[in-house]
Amino acid sequence: MTPNHRSGSSPRKSISYRGRTFSNACLSCEDPANCCGSSTKTDFDGATPTKKLGLSRRDALKLLGGVSAVLAAAPFIAATPSYLIPQVPQTFEPALIANTTDVPVNGSTIFWFPFTTDPTYTNMLIHLPPNLAQQAGSEFVAYNRTCIHLQCLVSYLSSSQIIGCPCHGSIYRPTDGWPIVGPAAQIGRYLPNVELKIEGQSIYAVNVNLDDIGYGNTTAPTW
Ligand code: FES
Repeated sequence: MTPNHRSGSSPRKSISYRGRTFSNACLSCEDPANCCGSSTKTDFDGATPTKKLGLSRRDALKLLGGVSAVLAAAPFIAATPSYLIPQVPQTFEPALIANTTDVPVNGSTIFWFPFTTDPTYTNMLIHLPPNLAQQAGSEFVAYNRTCIHLQCLVSYLSSSQIIGCPCHGSIYRPTDGWPIVGPAAQIGRYLPNVELKIEGQSIYAVNVNLDDIGYGNTTAPTW
């Protein structure tokens, strides 16, 4: 089988995200300090500092009016039947993401799960080297790639055996996804892990908590 994208090969020269096109180098960069042009800024959404609103007095009054209307409607919203509110899926069909021989020891591969709509749902499967596999209790681990700081995409850097974020230099442990350096470490939540199932040589992605993507997880994965 062919995984969506293997490190070391670049089937896609660029990637489209929310109507804009970005270099594939941002996804596979092995140099966090210089990826995407800067260590403190990136073109990926979410990494750009929030723009000041610059509201006029009239706009502010309109906004206050809107907030009041929402507060007034709150009791009715609370009473809305749950079937009218989109529910976040909790389980997914298992997806074959790789064969065990597809990913070399200390290598990684990228896969989309559970959706293929945008980079938010890209994940990395890491084949841990023996020293890290022993610590993790598993040879293969997988995480969603959305950094918990400002949602840039992180990568496994085989040369230094860490997971790095190209935007502000956060570093995560590959054994459990815990942030150890940078702004993500100050937040202190695990990268969302993707549950795996291995049958023979086939590796399946089984589940990921969508609520954790972009925010992280407070509990360590159990592999
Ligand atoms: S987005 Fe800031 S460190 Fe990852």
